Amino acid sequence: MSPTASTQVVERGLQDIVAVESHITFIDGQGGRLLYEGYDIRDLAEQSTFEEVAYLLWYGRLPTATQLDDLRQRLVGLRPLPEPLARLIDSLPTDSNPMDVLRTAVSALAMLERAETQPGPSSIGGALRLTAALPSMIGRFQRRRVGLAPLKERPDLNNAENLLYQITGREGSEAENRALDVALILHADHELNASTFAARVTASTLSDLYSAVTSAIGTLKGPLHGGANERAVELLAEIGEVSRVEEVVTAKLARHERVMGFGHRVYKVEDPRATILRAWLHRVGESAGNLHSYELLERMKEVVHREKGLYPNVDLYSGSVYALLGVPKDLFTPIFAASRVAGWAAHVLEEYQDLRLIRPSALYVGPTDLRYVPIAERGS
Ligand code: SDX
Repeated sequence: MSPTASTQVVERGLQDIVAVESHITFIDGQGGRLLYEGYDIRDLAEQSTFEEVAYLLWYGRLPTATQLDDLRQRLVGLRPLPEPLARLIDSLPTDSNPMDVLRTAVSALAMLERAETQPGPSSIGGALRLTAALPSMIGRFQRRRVGLAPLKERPDLNNAENLLYQITGREGSEAENRALDVALILHADHELNASTFAARVTASTLSDLYSAVTSAIGTLKGPLHGGANERAVELLAEIGEVSRVEEVVTAKLARHERVMGFGHRVYKVEDPRATILRAWLHRVGESAGNLHSYELLERMKEVVHREKGLYPNVDLYSGSVYALLGVPKDLFTPIFAASRVAGWAAHVLEEYQDLRLIRPSALYVGPTDLRYVPIAERGS
């Protein structure tokens, strides 16, 4: 019996454990509500922009017109990558996982621009730099792997427009650009999800923002977290027709496999972000004359809820929206990162303001007091 086994209870996955106090995001898992600094995500998705939401997350209040314009201009000016980083991205194997490219590029940028990597309030400079540069990193790699020259900077495009332009090489329509801007708003933060927790653990050691974002990118890559949007779209392709949804999904569930895009650790009703993105999937699909994914997902939603009582989460629809915009599947999660970097930075800044090393305990269940046996006595 280990020394303290009788007194400690392990909450696997830290489920329902409250680890920090935060003013950034509130999730009402029972009511299906999501607030950023007190503002409902439905209002922000309707009336705000990603740049304005980034300002809200970093400064804790909505910007004035002058403050927002200043932020927009600073972000545009911070998009270009330093030449050594551009060359590094160009040198990576073109079949690299784009999340590995992002993780590597962020780490490299830290070494090329040390001024931004000091832990503390000055990390707001790094927050702007990374939020502006991640789309440039994604775009540089995308153009490289399809054998095209890097795109010229487009200072006239806002953050969402520039991200779509960097990935597809074309300007999106008004509906496409707004759909992506809304998706970026919806993905900007989500309280203490796994990748944000990884960022806060890193920052809590007084490590720097770029190291925290590197930890977060590696965490977001996992299919149980950010990678679910790609797998949800793969399942749609596997199903093909609405008439096959019942057969394919019930067989998956019978094999105790997870249907990606459903379920959530916190939401016990529909993820409010899924509700909003479903409407945008219909809107963009209608204007593209392609409601096939929408119809497949509507049927899937019915079957999974009937069979498992589970609801859609944000990942069920985000991939299908991005696919309609012409985004390659393996860039869905990098888009998630290009948005969530704003939230990761907000949480790192908050951790620096009231720093406490994050170090939980483990319940030891191994042996104790074993006698060391010299190797000569251990047999073959
Ligand atoms: C994101 O934390 C966040 O906020 C993350 C996120 C953010 O913005 O940062 O919201 C983004 O990561 C959304 C989630 C994307 N991931 C997926 O869609 C992957 C599929 N979902 C599941 O793996 C699962 O729902 C989790 C991981 C999201 C949450 O799982 P939990 O809370 O650990 O629940 P669980 O694994 O204990 O499952 C409880 C039951 C189990 O059934 P039993 O074994 O008890 O019979 O529900 C089942 C699970 O098998 N279940 C599913 C399922 N999700 C849960 N069964 C089939 N398909 C699923 N998707």
